[in-house]
This record gives sequence, structure tokens and C-alpha cells, in this order.
Amino acid sequence: MNPIGPDEQARAILRGNDRGGYTVPTAGLYPYQWNWDSAFAAWGFSTFDIDRAWTELETLFTGQWQSGMVPHIVFHRDDPGYFPGPDVWGTKTTPPTSGISQPPVAASLARWIWEADPEAGRERLAGLYPRLLASHRWFMTARVKDGAVCVTHPWESGRDNCPDWDIGMAAVDTSGIGDYQRRDLGHVDASMRPGKADYDRYLAILHFGRESGWNDAEILENGPFLMADPGMTFILLRAHEDLAAIGRALGEDVAEIEHWCQTLRAGADLMWNADLHAYDARDMRSGRFANNLSSAAFLAFYAGLDRPELERRLIRAWNAVRYGIPSADPEEPGFEPRRYWRGPAWPFLNTLIARGLHDRGKVGLAERLRAETAALIRSGGFYEYFDPTDATPCGGKDFTWTAAIWLTWAGRSGKETG
Ligand code: GLC
Repeated sequence: MNPIGPDEQARAILRGNDRGGYTVPTAGLYPYQWNWDSAFAAWGFSTFDIDRAWTELETLFTGQWQSGMVPHIVFHRDDPGYFPGPDVWGTKTTPPTSGISQPPVAASLARWIWEADPEAGRERLAGLYPRLLASHRWFMTARVKDGAVCVTHPWESGRDNCPDWDIGMAAVDTSGIGDYQRRDLGHVDASMRPGKADYDRYLAILHFGRESGWNDAEILENGPFLMADPGMTFILLRAHEDLAAIGRALGEDVAEIEHWCQTLRAGADLMWNADLHAYDARDMRSGRFANNLSSAAFLAFYAGLDRPELERRLIRAWNAVRYGIPSADPEEPGFEPRRYWRGPAWPFLNTLIARGLHDRGKVGLAERLRAETAALIRSGGFYEYFDPTDATPCGGKDFTWTAAIWLTWAGRSGKETG
């Protein structure tokens, strides 16, 4: 038994991963500021240090590009233990960053942080508002096709190695890739990480972006990889709604944001795969569906979209494992319960899925997911992700967003605190 309770451990993890104004996802494996990890970190900090919470978001936005894009990694200071680092991305920005984005959860989490103490947060939120708006506008111009948010690199989706991307990845030419040295395998077991064939493709896509001078139009039209992502679309749709609520409270005109919501709501249909009975990623170059039931499909509820068929699909996948929500379909032969995004459950993603279930009135399911997530963390610790069949903790330990969602959600039943 650890003598200190899980709340205190979670706070210690956030403090321990704090590098001064920003938080790393975990020491070693991820030594920089990651976009959506940081938004969760901010939410976690808000439970005990509200000033530090706002600072986390403000620091993330110091990496925002002129175009409005908030990069997926901000390289505040050099770290030789990570590949691909700033020199490989070659974005020539200050501070150095990666050249792609990540799921835009920031507006939603900023809203939740603010709502917990509206008076105290108003000024900080007002400072962030134009930056959030610019980042949402960037998504709508640089990443939306036919009403769906498309990812130009699997890393942009935040679900790096998910089978969702396999058909798009298969078309990527890796002949010019050359030699390189991965660093992730020095931190965690290779059986849990993406394989070499995947990594070659990740780099080939990156090289295309760098050679285009990170030209968004060129990447969207001619890049080697472009897939409509249900996860990204649902997260942005929800974030638009949250940003509009913030805007209204600040007295801003939010007509533009409301229009974006309509665009994405209509676009979601493009990703409905009737054979799969679920939303599905889709290759925009070939029009083909991924035919993969991923946990991102269940973020539809979070975006306010509801279909009885989807709920049945959720229950079936969930009941096929012991702990929700598997990142890929447990009934498929390719299901790998411990490999990155090819089966494991991610506590932070569960938080968003549960929020959606709750908001759609599926309170019992939301509570079941909270209790199962709490059980994973209690038994295994604050790991990056978990095997949903037997609760084995996987990936990096002392993980920021796992600690953050313990403090804000998973550990909040009364019984679980302390
Ligand atoms: C991996 C995850 C991504 C996350 C990052 C840092 O790349 O797939 O979602 O942001 O790790 O935790």
C-alpha cells in the first residue's frame, strides 16, 4: 500500500512533470509540451492551483503559428532523448515546434476550468479567447474537407498507431526515408510501440510537410496522407460549442462559430459506415472507409450526436473486454490489447467519452466508465494506458493526463478520493 492517497499522488505527478509554465506528458518518453496533454494538465492543475492551470494553456499558445495552428509539440528546450526533434521538423519557428496540430480540446477544457470559478478566470479566459478562435478558424480552413476534419499525419489525430490509419498509411512511399535512430524504444518495450514500417511512414509524411515549407494548402491537396477523422471532427465540434458559449459570456459575436458547428454536424455523415454501424475514419484520397471500430467513434455522443445503433456497438465492444473503452475492436483478429492505440484503453479518452454519455442522458454508462477507469488507475497506477482485458498498466508511468483526469473525474465519487 502506498502510504499517500491517490489524490496526493496525482498532484505530485503534475508537480513533478512541471518544467516551469508547462508540463511534460511523462519524463523521458515525452520530454516536451504536447498540445492536448497540456490542456488536460491545465484541467488537473485547476483542482489545486488555478493560476498554474491558466499558465499551462497560455504557455501552450506561445507556440501558436501566425496561421492560427497550435502545434502538437512545442520544443521549449532541447532534449536529445526524443526523436523526431526540432531539427527534423524544421519549422523554423520561435519557439521551435512540430509542423502539425492535435485534437483541439483546449476550448472545452478552458471552459470547464473557467466554470469552476468564473470570476477568477474571466480575465485569463478573455486573453485566450482570440487565440482559441484563431486555432479553430485554422482547422476550418486548413483541415476541413466536405465537412469532416481530416488529419494529414496519424500523429495529428493523437491516436498515433490506430488501425484507423492503416489504409492511408499503406499508400505512403518510404523509399527516400534514409537512416534514423528512434528514441522511444529506449524508454518503453518495443511490443507496446509502433513497428518500424509504421515509423518509416510517419517520417515520410513529415518529410513531405517539411519540404513544402509546411504549406497547409499543399499538404491538404497533395500530401501523402489525408484521412477524415471522427475523433478530430467530434472534438472540434464540441470545442466549437464550448468556444461559442465562452464567446457569448464574454459578449462576443459568435455567428461564425455557430456556422462552423453546422458544417461539422453535416460533415459527420460522411464518416458514418453503415456496414460497421459506427462512425469510421475515411481515406480522402480513395474514399475508402478504414472499417475499424475505434474508441473515437464513441466521441459522437460528446459532440451531441446520438444514434441507437452506435450505442449498441459501444456496449458490444465494451462487453468484449473487462475495462472500457478499447481503442480498437476487440472482436477483430488484429486486436492487440497492449500495443499503442491498437486495442488498449486510455483513461483520458474515457473521460471525454463518459462526458458525452453523461450529457446524452446515459448516466449509468458514464458512471460505469468512471468506475472502471478508477479501478485501472487504483490497481495499476497513473500509467499512460491499460490492457482492457486484464488491467495491465502499459506505456509511460506517472503520466500527466492520467493524473489530471483522476483529480477531475475518475477519482471523484466520494469513495475514491483521499
Ligand atoms: C502519443 C499519443 C498522443 C499524445 C502523446 C503524448 O504520441 O498518441 O496522443 O499526445 O503520446 O502523451
